[in-house]
Amino acid sequence: MFIDIIKRYRLAVFIIFLFLWVGGMGIAVMAISIRKAEEKAPIQPINFSHRIHVKEQEIDCSTCHEFADKSPVAGAPPLETCMQCHEGVAIDRPQIVRLKKYWDEKKPMEWVRIYSIPDFIYFTHKRHVKAGIDCSVCHGDVANTERMGRVRKLNMGWCVGCHKEKDAPTDCVTCHK
Ligand code: HEC
Ligand code: HEC
Ligand code: HEC
Ligand code: HEC
Ligand code: HEC
Repeated sequence: MFIDIIKRYRLAVFIIFLFLWVGGMGIAVMAISIRKAEEKAPIQPINFSHRIHVKEQEIDCSTCHEFADKSPVAGAPPLETCMQCHEGVAIDRPQIVRLKKYWDEKKPMEWVRIYSIPDFIYFTHKRHVKAGIDCSVCHGDVANTERMGRVRKLNMGWCVGCHKEKDAPTDCVTCHK
């Protein structure tokens, strides 16, 4: 009986399925694009703004990312660095009250990582920074960034493209150890 109904209303059933399918796809696409946007600029435990610190306060990148020219990793600033100023600056603002709470409770700040490449790839900041490549080439206009997100895909083509352009090594073992 059921089969008979489906047979009789074949076209209607088909159209209903088509709508459900298209609708489902639409929802999936929306969900993915929302996730993509979050990946681009994740919510951090404290609303840290590079614009305020780099552009308005003219603090050097190296004050907070002190290993960028010395080691493979650039490094995240310890809370101590923040508290050098925020023990006294803007202490009444909710975000700074929160920051102070982390500090008082000796809780580490778990910043959400934004730029990363797979573990099997060798990358080093030191060589690139020493070669005079500005942070902005790989991380964009940080001084005008309110909330940090990824502006480069960091795929192999991007790495190799620049290495070719600048006569840096392109044999596989350079990056694949
Ligand atoms: C060299 C001094 C200095 C250091 C170091 C510093 N800040 Fe700031 N920060 C400031 C100043 C100045 C402001 C602007 C305050 C104002 O708006 O009057 C500010 C503003 C902020 C604000 C916005 C406050 C608000 O809601 O208006 C946050 C959040 C913040 N800083 C977090 C941090 C964190 C997290 C660190 C460490 C990673 C840090 N700061 C390191 C000087 C500093
Ligand atoms: C006052 C401290 C401070 C200064 C100055 C500062 N940063 Fe940061 N930076 C942070 C903090 C805190 C985070 C983690 C929170 C975030 O991503 O917004 C961060 C995150 C980043 C990230 C993303 C790290 C990741 O997870 O992949 C990059 C890239 C970066 N900073 C580049 C720069 C560059 C380039 C400059 C100079 C133009 C700079 N920063 C100056 C404190 C600072
Ligand atoms: C040639 C491109 C390039 C340049 C130039 C560069 N970075 Fe990066 N940065 C990367 C890549 C790629 C990663 C991800 C590395 C990983 O996952 O091991 C990264 C990650 C980071 C991170 C998070 C992880 C970490 O190493 O602590 C910070 C912070 C950062 N960069 C800051 C800086 C600052 C500050 C400068 C300038 C002094 C800079 N970068 C210059 C490509 C670059
Ligand atoms: C904007 C240009 C640029 C980009 C993008 C870039 N590099 Fe480089 N890279 C260079 C230059 C230039 C050198 C050579 C520096 C020197 O001569 O010391 C270099 C050197 C290196 C070295 C050291 C090579 C050696 O001699 O051992 C490694 C490893 C490396 N890059 C990995 C990467 C990886 C992985 C990426 C992508 C995630 C990347 N690079 C993206 C320009 C770039
Ligand atoms: C300048 C750095 C660099 C060089 C040189 C390089 N690669 Fe890569 N390669 C990468 C990066 C970065 C990734 C990771 C890309 C990503 O996550 O999307 C990658 C990914 C790959 C992958 C995909 C691995 C996986 O499981 O996702 C293969 C395969 C690969 N490379 C092969 C090669 C071969 C073969 C050569 C030599 C002809 C080479 N690569 C040279 C940087 C490099």
